[in-house]
Amino acid sequence: MSEIEKNTDWTRRQFIVRTGAAAAAGAVAPFALASAPGSLKGISRSANEKLVIGLVGCGGMGAANMRNLMNFPDVEIAAVCDVDENRMPGDISTVEKKYGRRPDVYKDYRKILDRKDIDAVIVGTPDHWHALVLIHACQAGKDAYCEKPISHNIVEAQYMAEAVKQHKRVVQCGTWQRSTKEFTDAIDYIRSGKLGRVTLCRAWISDDFRAGRQKPTTPPAGLDYDSWVGPAAMLPYQSNRCHWNWRWFMNFGGGLSTDWGVHMMDIALLGMSKDENLVMPTKVSAFGGQLAILDDDRTAPDSMEAIYEFHDPNFTMHWSIGRDHPGKESHGTEFVSADGRTLRVWRGGWKVLDSGGKEIPKEESAPPPNHWRDFVDCVKTRNKPRADLGSVAQTTIVCHLSNAALYAGETVHWDGERNDIAGKAGKNTLSYKRPYRKGYKLPVYKPLSTEVG
Ligand SMILES: NC(=O)c1ccc[n+]([C@@H]2O[C@H](COP(=O)([O-])OP(=O)(O)OC[C@H]3O[C@@H](n4cnc5c(N)ncnc54)[C@H](O)[C@@H]3O)[C@@H](O)[C@H]2O)c1
Repeated sequence: MSEIEKNTDWTRRQFIVRTGAAAAAGAVAPFALASAPGSLKGISRSANEKLVIGLVGCGGMGAANMRNLMNFPDVEIAAVCDVDENRMPGDISTVEKKYGRRPDVYKDYRKILDRKDIDAVIVGTPDHWHALVLIHACQAGKDAYCEKPISHNIVEAQYMAEAVKQHKRVVQCGTWQRSTKEFTDAIDYIRSGKLGRVTLCRAWISDDFRAGRQKPTTPPAGLDYDSWVGPAAMLPYQSNRCHWNWRWFMNFGGGLSTDWGVHMMDIALLGMSKDENLVMPTKVSAFGGQLAILDDDRTAPDSMEAIYEFHDPNFTMHWSIGRDHPGKESHGTEFVSADGRTLRVWRGGWKVLDSGGKEIPKEESAPPPNHWRDFVDCVKTRNKPRADLGSVAQTTIVCHLSNAALYAGETVHWDGERNDIAGKAGKNTLSYKRPYRKGYKLPVYKPLSTEVG
């Protein structure tokens, strides 16, 4: 039995801590600046010291993160792990070519967490596995680069944020737009007040993905499908809901509300907040479902119009999944001020329009640091990274709330003090909480002042 296996049975009592007082209101922080001053305690390292990393979840975004981190001379990849042997050869050979040696190869991520020589892990699994891998990594004293959306549901996000805080880990999330110039410029412009008083945000993504129809088959040789399903409900194997495609199935992901919402709504929330402790909504209603893509196995909504209400500042946010955005980019975030000026930002650019639709001059800020470099630096300094998990947990929860409202068919209310859904509406959805499959247990992390579930 690995160390981690032994540790998962810790009781809730051992983890209970009191939450601190709410952060004092302060000046608006320019977002293009480097990481926030450290509030995470831990051992800081010398700038030259090598950071030894293990990859959990090969092939897709996990591999891309690994390659980005390998650009730095003070990073070394020691091990790779996947429950599917077929996904690993590319990453093994990338490491071999770079370092002249083969990484250690595992099918069980707990073997990586047991290793004392490994400092941090990349969590590159599908969403339904993030919470367990990340919380176990925190318990094992590892820092992490964790992919977005951080969780499959709201309760997992709450526990993950608490685990990171209580174990004092540095966790950068995969919302790399937070370190891209067009987005940091746009956020700084809004925070500086140059657009005036913003009363409406819009964020959107176009969706025409089809999973198609398939019948269950035997999983391919080399894939441990039972481990791939992990804590989620068991469904017979179909390739159109396994690698990469899982995001279109609510059993494993959250559809585009979480897959892209966590990028595009994140920018709206950052612009409307004073710093990375994000403003949270008071209520959300959502309409839509599987309206456009018929005769398909996917279960995630292809159409959604969700409206969020916020107080302090007072504004509404409109989240949209669908295909009807004539003249607009396929994705984006907009801020609209009380006098009708609009700031629009997307991957590749941003612009400010006057109330008549004419482009007006904008101002640029200093370029942000590289997202992956920021992670490495923060592990060494113990500063909070730009996409600190606590902050991205807030965005992830906002995204889940749209699905919770849609599936509840009711307005869902959010209690900012308790950091939880208020009342019953939304709590009986998969986007709020899921039962873990037999053999899997989500470690409970609650602050004393916040009772969840
Ligand atoms: N930041 C971004 O822009 C961005 C882009 C794409 C994907 N992502 C995120 O990255 C994550 C992975 O997405 P993807 O598209 O690469 O998925 P993918 O299905 O292509 O790859 C995930 C890999 O994880 C493996 N895996 C599953 N369970 C595992 C376990 N318990 N231990 C080890 N390996 C396991 C799978 O076998 C698979 O090889 C998701 O959370 C996704 O939302 C982020």
